[in-house]
Amino acid sequence: MSVPFSPIRSFVRRDSRFTRAQKEAIENDWNRYVLPRCDGRAALVESFGRKSPVTLEIGSGDGTCVLELAVQRPDENFVAVEVHRPGLGRLLNRAKSGRLSNIRVSDQDIFELIDPAIEPLFEKIMIFFPDPWPKRRHHKRRMLQARFFDLMESRLHRHGRMFVATDSRSYADSILKTMESLPRWVNLAGAGQFAPRAAFRPITRFESRALAAGATVFDFCFARR
Ligand SMILES: C[S@@+](CC[C@H](N)C(=O)[O-])C[C@H]1O[C@@H](n2cnc3c(N)ncnc32)[C@H](O)[C@@H]1O
Repeated sequence: MSVPFSPIRSFVRRDSRFTRAQKEAIENDWNRYVLPRCDGRAALVESFGRKSPVTLEIGSGDGTCVLELAVQRPDENFVAVEVHRPGLGRLLNRAKSGRLSNIRVSDQDIFELIDPAIEPLFEKIMIFFPDPWPKRRHHKRRMLQARFFDLMESRLHRHGRMFVATDSRSYADSILKTMESLPRWVNLAGAGQFAPRAAFRPITRFESRALAAGATVFDFCFARR
């Protein structure tokens, strides 16, 4: 199914300050880890050099979550998409020192990277702490809207899972409301309910700062019908 799609401007390009190690990792190891294209299963198999279930993390930040999973699950493949390149530099450093061969990265906007694909590619999709865009006039920039779920639905395998966490109550409520209007998705916690924290989800730097500031975290687990 081809989805007519207008991208969501879900991020602002920030001034990228790199540490020396991050800069060196991008310069030296980018070609080894980059996922050049994501337009079908063949591209993933070619990039990883094998056929294995693939998990996509969107907005991987400094890579804490995807790295931990790649270590714990050597038989699975992982794609980390993050427009903020210093975070990818850290990830590359750790992937290299851990000799991980099951992880690929992209610094493309997810809406550019994924749009041309025409078949399901992923077993799981993870989006942890998407930018909350708290002001009402910016809500249109939130990534998790109906048209994002429509796009991801066609890239996720049938019965595949999407894991989400946010510390924004208003974002969490809008995700629940959107989900109720999407017949091809199921909220596995039950309609209108938050899920328990996913056991595999480590506490990232972003989350620990939010928790220290007294925030509550809301988790979701959705499945594609
Ligand atoms: C608040 S951070 C959370 C990072 C990480 N998941 C964590 O828990 O620490 C959200 C990240 O999503 C990234 N992001 C936002 N929109 C994106 C897009 N369209 N494509 C790729 N990354 C995006 C941002 O650059 C940012 O690093």
